[in-house]
Amino acid sequence: MADHAILAGKRVLLVIAGGIAAYKSLELIRRLRERGVTVRAVLTEAGARFVTPLSVQALTEDTVYQDLWSLTDESEMGHIRLSREADLLVVAPATANLLARMAAGMADDLAATVLLATDKPVLVAPAMNVRMWQNAATRANMALLESRGLLRIGPNDGVMACNEYGPGRMAEPMEIVDAIAGFFAEAAYRPLAGRRAIVTSGPTHEPIDPVRYIANRSSGKQGHAIAVALAKLGAAVTLVSGPTRLPDPAGCTVAHIETAREMLAACEAALPADIAVCAAAVADWRVEGAGDRKLKKDGGGPPALTLTENPDILATLSRPGERRPALVVGFAAETGDVLAYATAKRARKGCDWIVANDVSPGTGTFGGSDNTVHLIRADGVESWPTMAKDAVAARLAEAVAEHFNANLKAK
Ligand code: C5P
Repeated sequence: MADHAILAGKRVLLVIAGGIAAYKSLELIRRLRERGVTVRAVLTEAGARFVTPLSVQALTEDTVYQDLWSLTDESEMGHIRLSREADLLVVAPATANLLARMAAGMADDLAATVLLATDKPVLVAPAMNVRMWQNAATRANMALLESRGLLRIGPNDGVMACNEYGPGRMAEPMEIVDAIAGFFAEAAYRPLAGRRAIVTSGPTHEPIDPVRYIANRSSGKQGHAIAVALAKLGAAVTLVSGPTRLPDPAGCTVAHIETAREMLAACEAALPADIAVCAAAVADWRVEGAGDRKLKKDGGGPPALTLTENPDILATLSRPGERRPALVVGFAAETGDVLAYATAKRARKGCDWIVANDVSPGTGTFGGSDNTVHLIRADGVESWPTMAKDAVAARLAEAVAEHFNANLKAK
């Protein structure tokens, strides 16, 4: 359980949408207020069918905001100010309808407008019928919102008001209080604040001719997750990404590139940096003289492709010099003898750490969600258990933070 002391003095804007779970939001207001949180509430038209504005007003001891077109509300507060004068926006219950409107960027009532206009983080506590939650439309909306940085608590499994069973019940008020405290604790923990990081991710595409290219199976999941994890700890992150199917992560500057040479140029443009993590699967070779004319089947047999070596971005960034990041981390994807090859790679590339993993067929690492890695540093090897790529990223970011803090203390 998160420490609730951090909640004192925080300001939460609570959006109550129309679901049977809205009655639990009254309890949520009480629990937050007990902990010193100022709660201001926006009640949707549907929300007001489940809880009365009077109850919400009495519990928040503040005006309840309901109407985008209310002259009084607008002159006293204004929807833009309402969306900014909070440390966190909480939507509880978040209905399928409101999530859909948020995903679409609509501003058709006060709640949606405030959520669109805000510059603050948003935490949603979804509550709906199990089929509505499992509907492909809701899942797509939720995934899109989460890729934009929206936070979520629940829904829980259980019996619904409609007597169906499954995921869809809104998280309990104390679980939401915990999630809010956890959010503030995480937001306050920024050991990499003031540090700049470059992360490479994804494959590169090396043209053969204007329509064909050489690529590899990297999904970019691990690299993108590392960029997000470093940013969460306060680093200013430039993610240099090859072509992937992933959305740009919130909170990072993203440079999109296709070739290894473009990736190197984007990394160099992002210097100076304190940290570089090269997680991209860079093509070792490109086709020499890939021209702007499509290769033709002219009856003379297949063309001979001459390959030439690409720049090694990791080795280039690791080269000693004024602009070398203080900590350079490389990856080693191997298919056997992982530790021996990775240790040799660390020396050859001149980087500080190597994250080594086994990508043999059958491990499911390429494109999968899990990863089993070893962290190889000058003073030894740490083998981590199989974890989700997000968890590997969080642990690596934590190790980076510890490295810098230990260095600070040593000075
Ligand atoms: O040599 P190998 O490709 O196995 O090395 C892997 C590591 O080197 C990864 O960190 C990868 O991002 C990096 N690399 C690079 N530029 C290349 C080749 C690999 O940055 N041209």
